[in-house]
Amino acid sequence: MCGIVGFVGREEAAPILLDGLARLEYRGYDSAGVAVLDGQKLRVAKAKGRLRVLADMIQNGRAIHGTVGIGHTRWATHGAPSDVNAHPQVSRSGKIAVVHNGIIENYAQLKEFLMARGVDFASETDTEVVAQLIEHFYQGNLLDAVAKVLHRIEGAYSLGIVCADEPDQLIAVRKDSPLILGVGDGFSFLASDVTAIIKHTRDVMYMDDGEIAVLTCDGIQVYDSFLQPVEKTIARVDWEIDAAEKGGYEHFMLKEIMEQPDALRKAIFPRIRDGEVVLEDFGLTDEYIRQIEKIFIVACGSSYHVGMVGKYNLEQMLRIPVDVVLASEFRYMDPIVTEHTLVIVISQSGETLDTMAALRAAKGLGATILSIVNVVGSSIARESDTVLYTWAGPEIAVATTKAYSTQLAVLDLLGLYFARKLGTLPEERYQTVIQSLLLLPSQMEQVLECQANIQYLASQYFNHDSIFFIGRNLDYALGLEGSLKLKEISYIHSEAYASGELKHGTISLIEDGTLVVAVATYNRLFDKAMSNVVEVKSRGADVLALTTEDKAADMEKYANGIITIPETDEMLRPSLGVAPLQLLAYYIALMRGCDIDKPRNLAKSVTVE
Ligand code: F6R
Repeated sequence: MCGIVGFVGREEAAPILLDGLARLEYRGYDSAGVAVLDGQKLRVAKAKGRLRVLADMIQNGRAIHGTVGIGHTRWATHGAPSDVNAHPQVSRSGKIAVVHNGIIENYAQLKEFLMARGVDFASETDTEVVAQLIEHFYQGNLLDAVAKVLHRIEGAYSLGIVCADEPDQLIAVRKDSPLILGVGDGFSFLASDVTAIIKHTRDVMYMDDGEIAVLTCDGIQVYDSFLQPVEKTIARVDWEIDAAEKGGYEHFMLKEIMEQPDALRKAIFPRIRDGEVVLEDFGLTDEYIRQIEKIFIVACGSSYHVGMVGKYNLEQMLRIPVDVVLASEFRYMDPIVTEHTLVIVISQSGETLDTMAALRAAKGLGATILSIVNVVGSSIARESDTVLYTWAGPEIAVATTKAYSTQLAVLDLLGLYFARKLGTLPEERYQTVIQSLLLLPSQMEQVLECQANIQYLASQYFNHDSIFFIGRNLDYALGLEGSLKLKEISYIHSEAYASGELKHGTISLIEDGTLVVAVATYNRLFDKAMSNVVEVKSRGADVLALTTEDKAADMEKYANGIITIPETDEMLRPSLGVAPLQLLAYYIALMRGCDIDKPRNLAKSVTVE
């Protein structure tokens, strides 16, 4: 939600800021802006619409000069997308500019406080309050003024701040919203994520909550909220710039779907040695594992869907009760948590606000937190008792794909690891799952070869108004993800149902030509799946079935279209089955002319409630 970038160096800032914003645009894309200091004055340019509109307006940055600046790409929260509500927001003297990701919860009171002192506001944003408040406290020292403001604002925020009277520096602030600092030779950066700066530097500092950083050409000094200097370590980002580029694909989403075999290799192979799961630097002792009485899996969106699959698999492997709860619900529940409760938090970004809040609530109740996270150094990773990274590399498309499959693989590895400690899975089954996990990347490659078939099927169904996904058990969990993928990028109404629920109401929606995607990979329940297919067919539905190769012949008798996946352990079928559903959503959205990587109203990394 919103991307921010800041640069201080010896080169022209505006083109560098625009390039950084282009890489952050997936975080929000309803307006964009930059503010650059030219040594004396603050030059601000902002525009409603995609970044392209701003870039054209300032001739790709050539029209604005100066070597210090901040930029923003917005996902509107306070105030509709418009030129005036776009960031940077500027104080009334025009000297202080602020870019912000997050929400200032007490902005209305602060606005009243300032208006009572004669301050006029131009925008409807909460961010303008920050700019005006800094100016209110400013007495020739920006750092002091910012520190005073931080003690008055509430909410979640990462901020980039410049002041025309102190033209050689940028200030960065972070609380509950992602922000990293880039350390260079003769330049410094702030950014919402690494993709914006990786082209310039791999050396980064992760800011902690409440910290303030002063960035100049000569380096970065970080302070705590009482302005005491803080020593930070520099971490090195180990992925290549091409990981964050399209590399010849039309969309990031397709590229990321195709990257799944490699992402799975990276997530699985280093963690299996001599037929056994090895989790290095794992923070849970064998003694703790033996005392786990209850597991919660907490996450949002697709990560929650991974948790749904995880529930079935962990319960099967461990015989410990597992509840999967949406993070946005968990934080307001009264969950029964003891010191023997393990909370598994799943998040690609590691910054989702609801997930973060749920993590803190669970920690406060005494639970142990294990997170499965993609973004290294993210807030969720840092606040957990132990982390398992998915190592999927940067995921840029708003709709997640490779993060889903790697989260699932890591959760299965975790299940095996625990099962070995607890002795709950017979050795033969343990080895079958291990061998199946090792085969998963190459089988995923095989599945992705079905692209042309899926493209054809998409051409048959792309103009449907409503598409249902049905399945039981693991297939239901997979159907939820297939349905989410489809609706978020194609805008087709879609719902996923546990097949057994059809007769309890939903079947009344089936009419001639309704498309039902029947997920039927869980062979133990194949006959039941077939009965449901027959039921919806007899009410006029078209059925597209996803099943395993050995069941294809049976399914073909009834389904209008069929997609198959190769044989694997039953627990791992969602890992293979998800790929065709991702491709189906992708091609349907493509045929409908949708903006696949940046679907309407959405943004990656939901850092507001
Ligand atoms: C859907 C999607 C979202 C995320 C959700 C959680 O394609 O990407 O549903 O899964 O916003 O995000 P993370 O995993 O970053 O916490």
